Amino acid sequence: MNNDPINVLVIQPLMDELTQRLTKRFKCGFLYAEKNIDMYLHTAGENVRAVATRGDVGLDASIMARLPNLEIIVVFGVGTDAIDLAEARRRNIIVTITSDILTDDVADLAMGLVLATSRQIVFQDTFARSGQWSLSAPRLGHKVSGKRLGILGLGKIGSAIARRARAFDMQVGYCDRSSAVHADYQRFDNIHALADFSDFLVLSLPGGGANSGKIDKRVFESLGAEGTLINIARGSLVNETDLVDALRNGTLRGAGLDVYEREPHIPEALFAMDNVVITPHIASGTMETRQAMADNVFDNLESYFTRNVALTPVN
Ligand code: 8YV
Repeated sequence: MNNDPINVLVIQPLMDELTQRLTKRFKCGFLYAEKNIDMYLHTAGENVRAVATRGDVGLDASIMARLPNLEIIVVFGVGTDAIDLAEARRRNIIVTITSDILTDDVADLAMGLVLATSRQIVFQDTFARSGQWSLSAPRLGHKVSGKRLGILGLGKIGSAIARRARAFDMQVGYCDRSSAVHADYQRFDNIHALADFSDFLVLSLPGGGANSGKIDKRVFESLGAEGTLINIARGSLVNETDLVDALRNGTLRGAGLDVYEREPHIPEALFAMDNVVITPHIASGTMETRQAMADNVFDNLESYFTRNVALTPVN
């Protein structure tokens, strides 16, 4: 048996508990703590057999190119938009994600943002705390039940959102690149037709590549002045300049956003808008789910390096 330590490169901070477990079991390098990344990769790059990274961070192609003995990339998350999967496949590098673990939490937050935007929960909280209730009546919100919710991307997360929306007596429509038909929901052939149908347009499709900037001015015009955008997927899907304009000039009623184009940067113009609810990429951020995601990351590495089996590979 080869007792050489297994070198794992961690790209950006993970949960502390996971980092400790990884450090105990593997020889870990931490790219985010390196002052001179070029020098680090020059000296340590060829020893690295595994990369641990987050869904929102991925692995830069230029870094992957400098890890000639990389065998596996384990992702704390489900997004692979920041990883060159074609290149990973070409080099026989396995990529694992935390499949199925975060589906419910992300769908819950999507519904939370639907409710928070329509019932103006954040605005009303500020109103109540500021003592204004004794001076004037609370502003009225908008009804959710009976409204139309359009889901762009009916994968696992999109389907979980659809089930929740149904429980709120909403009409559900969707648009998905797969040709599978879901008889319970109304299918639309393109984004514009879906946006036209929707009171709430929920994005739950992968970011990056051809999807970048897909949600733009024209989509906002189709969604319309009584429409709300909900994004729990990726900021890269949305043209943020168009979004700010649409919210500012009333093309759109509101937005519930968990993700942004250049996180942790949030377009400052949104801060002043009370028709927008902003959360800092927390859709999978519950103790229970993050712990299960951490276990998945560790278990994938352990299983791969002891039994040559990745537990939840994408490729
Ligand atoms: C992750 C995500 O939790 O799953 C993804 O792709 O973006 C998030 O849910 C994120 O990687 C953790 O920071």
